[in-house]
Amino acid sequence: MNAPASQGTLMGKGLSTLWAPFSPINRINPYPMYRSLRELDPVHQLKTGDWVVSRYADVCTVLMDKRIDVIDMPSYFRDKTLTVNDTAIEMYPTYQASYNWLLYLRRPMHGRTREMVMKIWPSLNFAECVQAVLAELTAEMARKTAIDLIDDFAKPLPVRVISRLMGFPDSHIEQLKHWGERLATVFEPMLTQTEMVEINQAASDFLVFIDDCLTAHEQKPVDTMIGKLLAQRSADGQPMDRDDLISLIANLFVAGEETTRNLIGNGFAALTAYPDQYELLRNQPELLKPAVEEMLRYDSPVQITSRIALEDVEISGQTIRAGEQIYVCLGSANRDERQFEAADRLEITRVKNKHLAFGYGSHFCLGANLARMQAMQAFPVLIQQFPDLRADLSKAVQRKNLLLRGFGTLPTVRV
Ligand code: HEM
Repeated sequence: MNAPASQGTLMGKGLSTLWAPFSPINRINPYPMYRSLRELDPVHQLKTGDWVVSRYADVCTVLMDKRIDVIDMPSYFRDKTLTVNDTAIEMYPTYQASYNWLLYLRRPMHGRTREMVMKIWPSLNFAECVQAVLAELTAEMARKTAIDLIDDFAKPLPVRVISRLMGFPDSHIEQLKHWGERLATVFEPMLTQTEMVEINQAASDFLVFIDDCLTAHEQKPVDTMIGKLLAQRSADGQPMDRDDLISLIANLFVAGEETTRNLIGNGFAALTAYPDQYELLRNQPELLKPAVEEMLRYDSPVQITSRIALEDVEISGQTIRAGEQIYVCLGSANRDERQFEAADRLEITRVKNKHLAFGYGSHFCLGANLARMQAMQAFPVLIQQFPDLRADLSKAVQRKNLLLRGFGTLPTVRV
């Protein structure tokens, strides 16, 4: 049951400690905070006027309601200038790299752009590419004495996969890793000035790089994601502007990196924390599919997304006014006991698992099939080729992001 409206409002204003995502404890483990929110004030208003929605049913409602839409985050950077050591730094490159990201586009541009990508998506050979990258990574890991699951496996996997699918040259992998990592955090709240400048520099360099790749593809067409996007752009009645295409390519590259890394890192850590589930998966490889879905639910790579109310909307007895922003807690919805039995436990045999790790509604993750494929190939490789490898949870370090949840380092031990 939701709290009555009046009580909810009071709690929203009074109990600001309910929402403390930046506290060191909650950064490491936000799940007790989410539980309190779900129990005490599931549609919670912050002193800023923003809202936090934490229950599964309410999260679905928010993501489906046409009176609630995505927020044009990139525009924040369009005219922004930072002053660092008396030097003015224009943040325009950050805007230019991100303004055409699907997640920040509204109708009708969203539909048009998404359709263009959907048309080329099925023709990309994901499976073969993932298999080849995994073979390289496992050969590299076999030569190492100490393995960090993030640096040696979860991080390079999606970078190499998406780079190759795109048609980016392998020579730039290290730079691509750097640019992807910086840009993945561009819409994290509470960035420092130094972080923003680093992101801006990464955006600027990445834009030049993509532009060069487009030129190379135009001169010598190749059957890659970029080649197909270029062909699709020409085939379309209303061809996409070059700058729009560059920003879209940046989107497809950035969106799938840290997210997929977090799925593999968080999933491996969870299997280590639940040795019975690890053994079950090892003994019954046919459980792989539900196991990956359970990893997505149990410790979701994307914890929070946001929306804005376009009109006044009532959600479970609370009125969210037009213009107010909403933090939509996917990570909390996926632990809601109203939807999932024993929600705080990893159970790879879970049958009813309609998790929201890839979102819900019109902005549902476009790369879900690619992410699932990487995980479905990666875990058997880890289990079969490195059967004694486990995460050293005592030395694991969480990244300090709020929206994306994952490890910065995940050292391993041999058991
Ligand atoms: C485990 C890995 C991944 C997770 C957990 C994940 C999660 C999500 C979520 C939650 C959303 C929706 C956010 C919202 O509605 O506010 C989303 C959207 C999106 N994702 Fe993913 N993602 C993953 C991998 C990928 C990959 C591999 C790609 C592409 C290469 C990708 C591309 C996108 C795009 C383009 C959108 C925006 C779709 C739209 O607005 O229409 N994602 N993702």
